[in-house]
Amino acid sequence: VIDIAKLYGQTGMFTYDPGFTSTASCESAITYIDGDEGVLLYRGFPIEQLAEHGDFLETCYLLLFGELPTAAQKADFDYRITRHTMVHEQMMRFFQGFRRDAHPMAVMVASVGALSAFYHDSIDISDPQQRMVASMRMIAKIPTLAAMAYKYSIGQPFIYPQNDLDYTANFLRMCFAVPCEDYKVNPVLSRALDRIFILHADHEQNASTSTVRLAGSSGANPFACIAAGVACLWGPAHGGANEAALKMLQEIGTVDRIPHFIARAKDKNDPFRLMGFGHRVYKNYDPRAKIMQKTTHEVLNELGIKDDPLLDVAIELERIALHDEYFIEKKLYPNIDFYSGITLKAMGFPTSMFTVLFALARTVGWIAQWKEMIEDPSQRIGRPRQLYTGSPRREYVSVNQR
Ligand code: ACO
Repeated sequence: VIDIAKLYGQTGMFTYDPGFTSTASCESAITYIDGDEGVLLYRGFPIEQLAEHGDFLETCYLLLFGELPTAAQKADFDYRITRHTMVHEQMMRFFQGFRRDAHPMAVMVASVGALSAFYHDSIDISDPQQRMVASMRMIAKIPTLAAMAYKYSIGQPFIYPQNDLDYTANFLRMCFAVPCEDYKVNPVLSRALDRIFILHADHEQNASTSTVRLAGSSGANPFACIAAGVACLWGPAHGGANEAALKMLQEIGTVDRIPHFIARAKDKNDPFRLMGFGHRVYKNYDPRAKIMQKTTHEVLNELGIKDDPLLDVAIELERIALHDEYFIEKKLYPNIDFYSGITLKAMGFPTSMFTVLFALARTVGWIAQWKEMIEDPSQRIGRPRQLYTGSPRREYVSVNQR
């Protein structure tokens, strides 16, 4: 038996909390969630109001600086982001090293991390001015990298940013315009995607944000920290869930097959879960899922998609699950990922890009959390403890005597 306290010179209480279900890792003034009531606030403002009335860059300003911008502050912020949208031309060569069939998230992990090799001047985290330049660079360049990852995967030339467009319209154009052809951004789709970005912008200490904070606590440069966040987000239990949710809806295929999948989700011997259902914190309807559902209908209407079989399956699956004892008892409600896949697919994005879009939007949240941590005078390197369950001390035996 190992005496943990003696082993680590530990005095006082030692907690063991797998999955951090009840341990706060930090103090934060950015995002508030009440999971029982289904409330989400950014800097005190309800997500519903921001999504209805605001735009994504305004949300970025709010998350970074704590207040909504005045008109002059907003114009200045938008201009500064716009000035940083280009990536270094050498980045193109970097992209060309990847296989065309690489998952765009793999390309994002690498290319976001590589930004620190291109922008040496803004990796000095001790300088507030440089921290701000690095933050602006990341928010501005992530859409460009995301669009490049997409274009590369389909073998089309990269489209350079057009900075008289707003942030989201510019991104849509970089994804869907082709040289020598006119491309007009659809304002309804652009507004819908902007709203999706707002919904994903921050979500307090989730796995990827905690990863960014932990990486940043060692003093790692911000580009490397955000790359760590992108890597963590990729997992199917986190940002990969929207891709998994859409695949699941496609696998279910028709409404009559839903009961079979509900039964599988309830079967303890079957690893299958209803993707897009359940959340560590929300034990009520995810407020983002409600806005997302409305956005899905708006997008499908705009595109003239009257009968989408996937939407039919989603609506019926939600209806059945919300009345099922198992899901009621375990408080499993649709989360944001349940409807976002249908919407993004209708807009023309392949499933492999869904998590990339999530990463694009979450970048500002990661940066705001990283900045808050760096600027906290009590900040220390994150160093979780463990409960050692291995062998007690034993003596080395030379190989011919084993
Ligand atoms: N389908 C069926 N059963 C489920 C589901 C589900 N989607 N989610 C949880 N459960 C069950 C579990 O089997 C478990 O049952 P048990 O108590 O009988 O063992 C119970 O509900 C609690 O589940 P946990 O995994 O312990 O809950 P946790 O809080 O750790 O997990 C998570 C939350 C990962 C989101 C989980 O609900 C899940 O895997 N959902 C599907 C994936 C998904 O949609 N992820 C997106 C999360 S939101 C985001 O990242 C933006």
